Amino acid sequence: MKVLVTGGAGYIGSHVVKLLGKLGHEILVYDNLSTGNRWAVKYGKLVVGDLADKKLLRSVFEEFKPDAVMHFAAYIVVPESVKKPLKYWRNNVANTLNLLEVMREFGTDLFIFSSSAAVYGIPESVPVDEEAPLKPINPYGETKATVERLLSDLARSGSGFRYVSLRYFNVAGADPEGEIGFAYPNPTHLIIRAVKTAKGEYEKLYIYGTDYPTPDGTCIRDYIHVWDLARAHADALSYLTRGGESEVFNCGYGRGYSVREVVDAVKRITGVDFPVEEAPRREGDPPALVAKAQKIKEVLGWEPRYDSLETIIKSAWDWERKFSQNQRL
Ligand code: UFG
Repeated sequence: MKVLVTGGAGYIGSHVVKLLGKLGHEILVYDNLSTGNRWAVKYGKLVVGDLADKKLLRSVFEEFKPDAVMHFAAYIVVPESVKKPLKYWRNNVANTLNLLEVMREFGTDLFIFSSSAAVYGIPESVPVDEEAPLKPINPYGETKATVERLLSDLARSGSGFRYVSLRYFNVAGADPEGEIGFAYPNPTHLIIRAVKTAKGEYEKLYIYGTDYPTPDGTCIRDYIHVWDLARAHADALSYLTRGGESEVFNCGYGRGYSVREVVDAVKRITGVDFPVEEAPRREGDPPALVAKAQKIKEVLGWEPRYDSLETIIKSAWDWERKFSQNQRL
């Protein structure tokens, strides 16, 4: 398959590109390198461009003629989205609209979308399944829910367009072969922040909120290994290629860990007892988000292989120690 991957130089996109390359697909990465890295693109060609640039996008479609598009390019930081909603709506919604319009112009029908558990907001029950209503509580989640609605309309328009929307829970870890991993400055995500603190890059780790209605008062999340998530994309592509109908899937393991549990695990695995400070809640954080993870296994035949918090943290730690920003960026 010829696959156009937007955001393929970024953290999740680069892992998917590597896997697709290994599986023998032909890849073109379209990335503005705002958070991605040229060296992270292990297969295929990289075009440095922005999704706002429809002219460039058209020329890429003209030349590459993709069979399918995987769309990772988006902003992803919940607290930033609360402060800068226009930035998120512009990039995550308006630029996605550009991409879909160009896909329609060139008759590219298959689309795999990086959605998020953030579309659920504060779910009525946890674990949450795909039928739960979309009720985001932050602008980031709003942008993902909006694109999902748009995709659903497009799929029902009779144009032949079909899509899979993958609702990621909390993605962490790195390539098991150690070639790529999380690599942009000032990360905000818990596991990467914690391993960097263990490495000494930060003085201490803050725990945002200890008064949530959870057993230990900190937020609960479902952490999924990035390589298992990459497999979900490859499985979704095969599914659409086989003629599968448009679908939405949770991508998580169905088990949640609190912030304190994650911090304890990071300390244990790294062997570093780094300083931790309790801080007020962060805006836009739901108390608990855990996936019901059956549907993706049943429909796509997805089989997770790295389903363990230890394995996730260990691979993030191995990568972090290997990775030197000065050398690679
Ligand atoms: N946290 C800390 N200290 C930190 C970093 C995070 O206590 O230094 C806490 C957060 O407050 C939150 C939990 O750890 O309670 C997880 O936070 P992350 O920033 O790691 O991840 P988020 O849950 O905010 O965001 C992720 C993805 C989104 C997805 C969302 C669903 O980035 O795409 O999960 O909530 F939508």
